[in-house]
Amino acid sequence: MLEIKNLHASVDGNEILRGIDLTIRRGEVHAIMGPNGSGKSTLASVLAGNPRFEVSEGTATFLGRNLLEMSIEERARAGFFLGFQYPVEIPGVSMANFMKLAVNEKRKYNGLEPLGAGEFLKLMRQRAEFVELDPRMTSRAVNEGFSGGEKKKNEIFQMAMLEPTLAVLDETDSGLDIDALRVVATGVTRLHTSENATIVITHYQRLLDYIVPDFVHVLYHGRIIHSGDRELALRLEEQGYDWLIKNEK
Ligand SMILES: Nc1ncnc2c1ncn2[C@@H]1O[C@H](COP(=O)(O)OP(=O)(O)OP(=O)(O)O)[C@@H](O)[C@H]1O
Ligand SMILES: [Mg+2]
Repeated sequence: MLEIKNLHASVDGNEILRGIDLTIRRGEVHAIMGPNGSGKSTLASVLAGNPRFEVSEGTATFLGRNLLEMSIEERARAGFFLGFQYPVEIPGVSMANFMKLAVNEKRKYNGLEPLGAGEFLKLMRQRAEFVELDPRMTSRAVNEGFSGGEKKKNEIFQMAMLEPTLAVLDETDSGLDIDALRVVATGVTRLHTSENATIVITHYQRLLDYIVPDFVHVLYHGRIIHSGDRELALRLEEQGYDWLIKNEK
């Protein structure tokens, strides 16, 4: 569903991604690991359509369409979801209203009638329960005053509401307490089907105990320098990145 070839991207004239090749098929879970500053969040931002990044070379095809030419809204409607490393706050807009808009936008794109108030509330309650989110949170402004962990949990709630075809989760585990980590990771796993795909960006193998990846990739200096299965994550946890990057510059 997603095919990235030789992707190069820069920000303010600095080349950050230097030739990414990555193929994601339906039903797969990919983990992207790599040292700080290697370009993981940049890759996520470029895929989401953040205009700060300039793609200078390469292609990205999502469900047969040129992803790089799609607007941020089109990407979202087509089923692309990005969970941010640092989720944004939207003061004055309640979670419920925000999600209602997003869910109905997507339904419209898929030729479905918008959900009525009652149906929407029911869906929201069910999905909040799914990720063990206190339903009272949904009447608060999006992420405003949420703790770090609550923001991350909220992200998975949004994902549960939107049922994306491709979800990219950037450090969903950072700042989560042990119980929240389990809840979030279990939520992600329960949302995974043979029809969708997930990319998890993480520094820690422990997240991958819950979200079992089919592939693990190591990003370094804007390139994927090594790929493997979950054993690779275990080895990285034990040995760090030195053995991989000593031959890279
Ligand atoms: N505006 C900018 N100008 C110059 N360099 C930038 C700019 N924005 C980002 N970078 C650099 O791009 C590199 C990649 O950043 P990115 O956030 O993608 O890393 P990351 O792999 O997600 O790291 P982390 O694990 O710390 O989250 C970093 O070295 C960062 O300093
Ligand atoms: Mg990052």
